[in-house]
Amino acid sequence: MANLTVGGVDCVALAKKLGTPLQIYDEKLIEDQIRSAMDGLSSTKFGSEVIYASKAFSCKAIYEKVKQMGAGLDVVSGGELYCASEAGMDMSEVYFHGNNKSVDELHMALMLGCNVVLDNLPECRKLIGLASLYNKESDVLLRVNPGIEAHTHEYIRTSGADTKFGIPIDRDDEIAALIKETEESPHINFRGFHSHIGSQITDTSGFEQAIEILVDFMKHMYDKYGILTDVLNIGGGFGIRYTAGDKPVPIGEMTKLLVKKCEDCLEAKGLTIEKLMIEPGRSIVGEAGYTLYTVGFSKDTGCKNFIFVDGGMSDNIRPVLYQAEYSCDIADRIGEPKDGTFTVAGKNCESGDILIKEASLPSQVKEGDILVMYSTGAYGYSMASNYNRACRPAVVFVKDGVAREVLREETYTDQMRFETDTVIEL
Ligand code: LLP
Repeated sequence: MANLTVGGVDCVALAKKLGTPLQIYDEKLIEDQIRSAMDGLSSTKFGSEVIYASKAFSCKAIYEKVKQMGAGLDVVSGGELYCASEAGMDMSEVYFHGNNKSVDELHMALMLGCNVVLDNLPECRKLIGLASLYNKESDVLLRVNPGIEAHTHEYIRTSGADTKFGIPIDRDDEIAALIKETEESPHINFRGFHSHIGSQITDTSGFEQAIEILVDFMKHMYDKYGILTDVLNIGGGFGIRYTAGDKPVPIGEMTKLLVKKCEDCLEAKGLTIEKLMIEPGRSIVGEAGYTLYTVGFSKDTGCKNFIFVDGGMSDNIRPVLYQAEYSCDIADRIGEPKDGTFTVAGKNCESGDILIKEASLPSQVKEGDILVMYSTGAYGYSMASNYNRACRPAVVFVKDGVAREVLREETYTDQMRFETDTVIEL
């Protein structure tokens, strides 16, 4: 029996020191994932850029890591953009996404000088207007919807006929008209197309199909309207391993395959591009993340054998929202036979607050044990809430035997910051 160690650090000791729930990231794995993606995406035919989709996990420390590794960044809100600026990101490497960016957000993007991924014509017009008002410039991509039904949960599918994102690819006149408006503006520089088909996609076929459709579309836009595409961004969505049943294609292999597909499709159509981009989030940080909880009370209801932990849907809403599955261990008894089955439930006041429906663990799980949930690095902390006035956990990066806290645990006093009693004069 042993304690779980990550990055040469004893996680149980860390949990005892900082308290639980506690979010840990294996820094080296994050670095390896970014590097594999960058290596895999390199081509002799065109340039390439990996941008980290930071909605998966956003804080200054991860942005600094991304910057240090030479990757770019995808942000989807003024908040993420602000954090990127605070982390000293090079704004020419930052891409601002979103289907309903506010005037304030577009203004911020122009002032900071990041790239904007346009979603629709009204947004395009607003950006052109603001850019000319403030005499600022912006490079833009346009998000198009290739209409692919990716094989994943319907809530994280982003490219079917009913999605809110981008302009459907068959609306070529509308797309050409939008690009023409950007070309008429001295402030806006149209660079190319963007598409993202969904998330946690473990097979390659959806991505390959998307590339075929996009390259055909680029050819069509050139032939019919004379529009040249310099940059093609094929989005993120590469799946990771949550449980033994998941068999994702490793990011390095996936990117190699996509590059080859892109090279072949472009060659077949007699086209060239300057740069191919991807924007992975989950595959960069997901498997690097571990959440530690302390086991509290247990309850055998006759039909369910519950163990309760000191967190739940307030720090990881994915099981409730997407029926996401995770695996776990008792972190202070790694290697002990897993001869018991438990339902791991959180402490939030909601009967659906179940983290793992059927967890294999040693049969003697006891109060005070430290439970580790694996692969919690993506969309866990970033989707955490103060439901039931829970405090968001601390986040620690570990590497080479060194642990550094990058986000401290929230406190009740933090939560009181927003309390006010102000009469509004209208
Ligand atoms: N690019 C765009 C335009 C996106 O919308 C997304 C994710 C990504 C990149 C990154 O996708 P990734 O590589 O992380 O799969 N909260 C859900 C996932 C929502 C994903 C939203 N968009 C979850 O917890 O599964």
